[in-house]
Amino acid sequence: MDKNKKILVVGAGGFIGGHLVKKLLANGNQIVCCDIKPKEYWFQDFDETENHYAMDMKDILNCRKVSNGVNYVFNMACNMGGMGFIENNKAECMQSVLINTNLLIACNEYKIEKYFFSSSACAYNIDKQQQPFIEGLKEDDAYPANPEDGYGWEKLFSERMCRHFMEDCGIQVRIARYHNIYGPYGTYDGGREKAPAALCRKIIQAKKENAESIDVWGDGEQTRTFLFIDECIEGTLKLFESDYSEPMNIGSDEQVSINQMIDIIREIAEIEKLNKNYQLDKPKGVRGRSSNNELIKKVLNWSYQMSLKEGLTKTYKWIENEMSQKGLNLSKYTKS
Ligand code: GDD
Repeated sequence: MDKNKKILVVGAGGFIGGHLVKKLLANGNQIVCCDIKPKEYWFQDFDETENHYAMDMKDILNCRKVSNGVNYVFNMACNMGGMGFIENNKAECMQSVLINTNLLIACNEYKIEKYFFSSSACAYNIDKQQQPFIEGLKEDDAYPANPEDGYGWEKLFSERMCRHFMEDCGIQVRIARYHNIYGPYGTYDGGREKAPAALCRKIIQAKKENAESIDVWGDGEQTRTFLFIDECIEGTLKLFESDYSEPMNIGSDEQVSINQMIDIIREIAEIEKLNKNYQLDKPKGVRGRSSNNELIKKVLNWSYQMSLKEGLTKTYKWIENEMSQKGLNLSKYTKS
């Protein structure tokens, strides 16, 4: 990344945005950060950056204010969470289309050089994700379109909006489809947490209370691939610097069931036996999801390296430490 470029990170107070800012700062870039969350809810907050707290980027005036004078824009902002959030807040999730739309309009007005959009594996056709162990989803599998209702439709639509701003207005765009990114400095309670953090939290709590079981959503046979945050940032920057403008998977191919992931976390926690209390009425999402990584290997010569166990160990330790300092049931930012 060219050090002389001034970079806007939208969603800088969030999980992936915060890690991205840290990396760009280490590279020596000048950074403008903004997020709808007030200061106290930012996961990472740096003194060296120009920070705009509680700034709603659904408003085009805010988009114009922070896009003016920057070279690159990373749109890492959307109203999101794990299955518990996106399945029950579809209208909220779809409103993130305003962030992408208004940002692209502002970026075009100010002739931004390059724009990054953080899309999601939820953009993929759900018909291809009905079995627990599936072949990895290839980029072409997003069409014919039948994505995750609400959140996935917004992502797929916004991907196409990026494509057309590139075709019609000449903005360079880069689009990543992230496959369940996890790690420290992310949500682990409050309702928006994804499975890795939620299950770490539940197991830490069970250990502390000598409980014999934890609650698990679904029957635990549903599968996913998960990618550790540091590798997500590495892949993101590689993609950004490349000349590839179509959507690209950024994920691992270590596909596990939720039951298998729980067993890995149980081992990390050094608990011998833990029963699973399956809650079949809770949000489950697709039955099986896995990332095919041939394209990223071919185009960027990049692949993830970290095993799920190693990444979960780092995540578990961070959550354990947070919980011992701040306790359980933190009141997290939940308002959009
Ligand atoms: N969140 C959560 N909490 N999920 C649980 C739990 C729990 O306590 N127990 C079991 N699960 C199961 C869910 O039912 C789901 O089948 C699976 O774990 C994965 O759940 P999440 O991690 O919440 O979501 P996801 O993988 O379906 O989708 C997430 O990743 C996408 C990218 O791959 C979401 O965060 C999407 O927003 C994101 O785009």
